[in-house]
Amino acid sequence: MITFSETTRTFYLDTSNSSYVIRILENGAIAHSYYGARIPHEDLSYYNMFRPIVFSAVHEIGGQQISPETIMQEYPTFGRGDYRIPAVTVQGKDGSNVNELHYAWHRILEGKPLMDAMPQLDVDTESVQTLELVLRDAVTGFEAVLYYTPFEESDVIARRTVLRSIAQEPIMVRNACSASFDLETGDFDMITLRGSWGRERYVERYPLHQGVSAIDSRRGASSHELNPFAALVDKDTNEHMGQAYGLSLVYSGDFKITAEVDPFASVRVQIGLNPETFSWKLEPGEILETPEALLTYTQAGLNGMSQNFHRACRNHLGKCADRSLKHPVLINSWEAMYFDFDDQKMIQFVKDCAGLGIDTVVMDDGWFGHRDDDHSSLGDWFIYDRKLPTGLTGIINACHENGINFGIWFEPEMISRDSKLYAAHPDWCIHVPEREGVESRCQRILDMSRPEVVDCIYEQMAKILETYDISYVKWDMNRHMTDNGSAALPVDRQSEMGYRYIRGVYSLIARLEKRFPHVFFEGCSGGGGRFDFGILYYMPQIWTSDDSDAVERLKIQYGTSFVYPPSAIVAHVSACPNHQSGRTTSIDTRANVAQGFSLGYEFDVGKLSQQERDAIKAQIQKHRELENLVNLGDFYRLRSPFTSDYCAWQLVSQDRMQSFVMFAWKTSYVQPAPQYLKLRGLDPEKQYRIPQLNIVRSGAVLMNVGVALQEPGMTDYPSLTLDLIAQ
Ligand code: DGJ
Repeated sequence: MITFSETTRTFYLDTSNSSYVIRILENGAIAHSYYGARIPHEDLSYYNMFRPIVFSAVHEIGGQQISPETIMQEYPTFGRGDYRIPAVTVQGKDGSNVNELHYAWHRILEGKPLMDAMPQLDVDTESVQTLELVLRDAVTGFEAVLYYTPFEESDVIARRTVLRSIAQEPIMVRNACSASFDLETGDFDMITLRGSWGRERYVERYPLHQGVSAIDSRRGASSHELNPFAALVDKDTNEHMGQAYGLSLVYSGDFKITAEVDPFASVRVQIGLNPETFSWKLEPGEILETPEALLTYTQAGLNGMSQNFHRACRNHLGKCADRSLKHPVLINSWEAMYFDFDDQKMIQFVKDCAGLGIDTVVMDDGWFGHRDDDHSSLGDWFIYDRKLPTGLTGIINACHENGINFGIWFEPEMISRDSKLYAAHPDWCIHVPEREGVESRCQRILDMSRPEVVDCIYEQMAKILETYDISYVKWDMNRHMTDNGSAALPVDRQSEMGYRYIRGVYSLIARLEKRFPHVFFEGCSGGGGRFDFGILYYMPQIWTSDDSDAVERLKIQYGTSFVYPPSAIVAHVSACPNHQSGRTTSIDTRANVAQGFSLGYEFDVGKLSQQERDAIKAQIQKHRELENLVNLGDFYRLRSPFTSDYCAWQLVSQDRMQSFVMFAWKTSYVQPAPQYLKLRGLDPEKQYRIPQLNIVRSGAVLMNVGVALQEPGMTDYPSLTLDLIAQ
C-alpha cells in the first residue's frame, strides 16, 4: 500500500511487516526518512537533518542552513555538497558531472508498469500499487523517474529507475543506480555470497567501516565470484532472529552493490549496473531503463530474509511463478561421457536409464558442428554427423520407447574460431579493433548486443527445436568477457555493449520461449556463474555448481538458499570418487544432500550395481513425495556448514502438515555426542510423526526441545533425513 501525506509531503510505502518512508524537503530535495519494521503514518519531519555542518557546503532548506552531505537522501547526486557516492551521474553539455535533482511530480499507479524485454517481478496474482516519483535536473537536462512497487505478502519492494533526457543535445549517463537509500545507522555487518568456479556462493560476513564496502562484477556475467546480493544485518542477527535488509538485482551482467558509512555513521546503500564498465549516451528525448532491484526488510533473521526473496520469486518472477511447469528429474550425459559419445553410446545410456523413474535424458556438450573437444564448433548449431549419423531421431526414439523425454545442451552466446560462423563473420565476436582477442576455454563471446547476431543464433536453435521433440534445454555460458567492444557501436557508445549484450540474451531466450512454450529451460554458466533473478525469470532452475561433491555442495546449496528458492537450485547425485574433489561419499549422503532441491543425476548409469539402481529408484520416488514441498515450502537453514562441523536444513509446507529435514556430519568423530536439533516453522499444537526416529511429538516440543540425532558411526560423511507428517 502507498500513501501520500499532502501536509508533510511524505510517502509511506507499506508491506505486511515493513515501512519505507520518503519525504519531499522544502527545497524539493528528496530525503529518505525511514526503512524498517512497519510503523504508523506519523510525521517524521523531525528526523534526519540535524547534524553539524562544519566544513560543509550549505544550502538553505526551509529557512535553515543545511548541507546535502548531512541529509539522508533517496537518489543523490554529486557536485553540490554531498561527497558520498551518487546514485546517478550524468554529464551534460557543459562537460561537468555536477548534478542536482529536485522533485517534479509524482503519481500513485494501480498495478505495476512493466519494462519491455527485461526480467522483473510480474503481478498477476496480487494487486499492487506503484509510486512513480519524478525528479528533475533542468540544468544538465534529465529526469530520474523512480519506481517503487511494494509487495505485501513477501515484504519485498521492487525498485528501478528510468532516466529521461530533456536536454537539447546528447547527454552521457556515467552511472545510474537501480536503487539507493540512506539509513541512519551503519552499525551493521554486511553479508555477501562470494566464491569462484566450483565453490559458488560461500557466505561471508564482515563489519561495515567508515568508507565504502562494495562488491561487484566486471566479468560480463553476474559471476561465480560475487553474487548480485548483499544483506545488512545487526551484529546479533542470526538465522532465526534479528534485523536484516536484503538487496538483490534482477540482472545477469555487471553490477555493483555498495554500502558507504559516512563520518556520522549513517550508511548509504546502492545497487545497480556497474559504473566501471557502463555508460550510456542519451539523445534528446531518449530514455534509459535500469534493471529492477529487490529490497526486503525483516526482523525474523536471515531465514526470514531468504523466505521473503523465495516468496517474491515463486509468486511473481516469470517462469519461477508458473505453477504449470514441472521440474524434471533429469540425468545429464556430461560426467558420464564428456565429449566421448556417439548415437550408439547415447542410445545405450537412455536404455540404461529405463525403469529408474528419470523424466529426461540430457545430451550435454559435443553434439554439434564437429566438436570432439572444447576447441571448435561453438556457433555451428547443426548436428555433428560423424557422431550422430541419423541425427537425433534414434536417441529420441529410444527415449520415447522408455517413457523418457529428451533434453539438449546449447551455449548460444559463444563462438569458436574453428567454426563456420567465425569464418563467415569474424567481427561478430566481442572485440576491440587492432587488439587480438583473448581466448578463454578456447572460445570467444558473440556480440549479443547486435540484433543480427541474436537473429542468427535464434534461427539455428529454432531449427533444432522444431525438427526434434525436445522438452528441455540446458543453456550454458562458459567464459567471462574481455575485449569489451562492439563493431556495431560508435566510439561514444562502446561502454553500452555490456548492458545491450545482456538485453540481447534476454530477448533471445524470450523469443525461443514464446515459440517453444513446451520447452523447459535450465540456466548454467560453468556451473553457477550466472545464478541470479535475471536468469531465473526465464529459466526456473539453474545448475548450481560444477562441483557435484556432496560435502562441497553443503556449503554451496546453503549459501545459494540465502536468496534463491530450493526449486531453483539444481542438485545432482554424481559418481564417486567425485570427479571434482576425488572424495567418496555414500550414495545415501549424495542423495540426502540433493533431496529438497531440483533433483538430477550425473553419471554413467550403465556402471551401476543393482543395489545402486534400487537406491536411485527409491530416491526418485521420494523426490516425487517431496516435490510440492520443494516447490512451495518454506526453507529454514538450521546448522551452518561454514561455522560448524554439521549442516542441517528443513522444508515446511505452507499448511505446516509436512516437513523434511536433512542433517549431515562433515567430520566423523569417535564417540560422537548426539546432536540436538531444534526444528522450525512447525505448528506447536500439531503432533508430528517422524518414521525414521519412530516417534510422535508435538511441534512445540520439536521446536523447543528438538530431536536427538546420533551419528551413524564407522563411516565418512554420514547424513540422515527426517520426514515429519502431521497427524
Ligand atoms: C559447464 C557446465 O557447467 C557443465 O555441466 C557442462 O555442461 C560443460 N559446461 C560442458 O561444456
